[in-house]
Amino acid sequence: METLTHDVVIVGAGIAGLRAAIAAAEASRRIDVAVISKLYPVRSHSVCAQGGTAAVLRDEDSYDLHAWDTVKGSDFLADQDIVEFFVKQTPKSIITLEHWGCPWSRTDDGKINQRPFGGHSFPRACFAADMTGFHEMHTLYGKATAYNNITFYDEWFVTSLILEDNVAIGLTALELKAGEMYAFRAKSIIMATGGYARIYEFTTFSHTSTGDGMAIAYQAGVPLKDMEFVQFHPTGLIPSGILITGGARGEGGHLINAKGERFMKDYAPEKMELAPRDIISRAETTEIQEGRGIEGPYGSYIALDLRHLGDEKINERLPLIRDVAIKLGGVDPVKELVPIRPAAHYSMGGVHANIKTETPVQGLYAAGECSCLNVHGANRLGTNSTSDCLVFGAVAGEEAAKHAFSSSLRKLPQERILAEEGRVFDGILGREGDERVPAIRDAMRCIMSENAWIFRKGDELNKAVKEIRTLKERFKNIRVEDKSRSFNTGLVAALQLDFTLDLAEVTIAGALARTESRGAHSRLDHPKRDDENWLKHTLAYYTREGPRLEYTPVAITRWSPATRVY
Ligand code: FUM
Repeated sequence: METLTHDVVIVGAGIAGLRAAIAAAEASRRIDVAVISKLYPVRSHSVCAQGGTAAVLRDEDSYDLHAWDTVKGSDFLADQDIVEFFVKQTPKSIITLEHWGCPWSRTDDGKINQRPFGGHSFPRACFAADMTGFHEMHTLYGKATAYNNITFYDEWFVTSLILEDNVAIGLTALELKAGEMYAFRAKSIIMATGGYARIYEFTTFSHTSTGDGMAIAYQAGVPLKDMEFVQFHPTGLIPSGILITGGARGEGGHLINAKGERFMKDYAPEKMELAPRDIISRAETTEIQEGRGIEGPYGSYIALDLRHLGDEKINERLPLIRDVAIKLGGVDPVKELVPIRPAAHYSMGGVHANIKTETPVQGLYAAGECSCLNVHGANRLGTNSTSDCLVFGAVAGEEAAKHAFSSSLRKLPQERILAEEGRVFDGILGREGDERVPAIRDAMRCIMSENAWIFRKGDELNKAVKEIRTLKERFKNIRVEDKSRSFNTGLVAALQLDFTLDLAEVTIAGALARTESRGAHSRLDHPKRDDENWLKHTLAYYTREGPRLEYTPVAITRWSPATRVY
């Protein structure tokens, strides 16, 4: 097997990955950077980010206010030292992108415009209409391609991480065009592969969001943190789940039940539709469960009403979601109600890493949604994600470059590489079992949607964990029909299923153990937040028998946990 060598290897080419690549390349032209992505970079899920990127840009706003909103939004599970660092870095991220050509929407007097967003007490979401991620990605990709010390490996699928003595020394990757396996040697590796919401069926996420980097790190022995905290976005378009941005409510949209009421008055009377997502998603689910949903061909739903905004404002601020609603929802928001319900949207959890994006493994970093740096705690505020990717993508690139300067490449163990080749080609591709990947994948999504959705119960989570373990057994007996090598999407789907089964299991295990309700994790059998016993982060370690859980404290600097009302 051929071995390729780079100083810094970045897995994932979304906002965090590209920002990391630029930072590492800028640290020194002598640093040789590689970006490996299973997609073409501008097809990464980051392009789907719509509503904005949070940053303090106005005198009337403040770092303290942004930090407080984030901590309160997190239901006090965020580490406050990292939140304080994060909010101070966000303005620089916005201005840097501005200098690189990002077409931010403007105020009449030419300033970068900002819109209100759920859980923020100041309008601090910088936006580019409702295609913020798309424009950020194109800006970053354009910038990254200007560096001759960055090499892109597009349509390469990373299958495993190689560690030695708790040091990251390389990885294996499948070049999808020829279907050949390669080894990469590196001094520093950054995981930036995004989230894994595709463990659910009804999700705002692309089909490619299968948490590869999280699962690869976990399977190599790196702990995942706070995986029980999955965010449900209040406005997934029916029937596909495609995102209808929270920016629609930021621009003044209303949520309506079957009685025509703005029901958020009963759940968050002050913030109404601009409450944090966990609260709105629970409110919508309650309305539906108590019979106040609107009946439709796909079951009960909630309506998003944008009609009063008028076509001029909708066309200027929300052109993408108008188009999406017309083409994929069959309704024109200028004239009609948009049918929505909560959809799986984001994982607060991810690869355990610190404020410098360092994981417990030397030379291994994690950034963006793939990581859990403890910024978002139990519930992330809308628009803090793209800010996180920009801020900590840059930190990861700088730290990885620094580490690469002070370390040397190691020889990769041949037996380890051959074993991985055997696992993928003889094991997964060569297996001749009776089970099929789509059937197991659909079953997994069904289990997760029925038992580990917005409201959870111990007995259902218990059942789900057993069922996911049965699926893992069934996975050992799969057959990928297409045995060819070139662009074998069946093989990729099987590898991704292997990853998501592990991630689903960790999600449920953490949720079952956490006998309290906090942020996005809502246990009907333990409805209260329990700071005495659960003000702590969950760490999940891979074992053959399933995840082993440990806990680590939350950093509280200035804000004691308080009742969370909006
Ligand atoms: O609603 C949205 O536009 C999503 C934003 C986010 O997840 O931060």
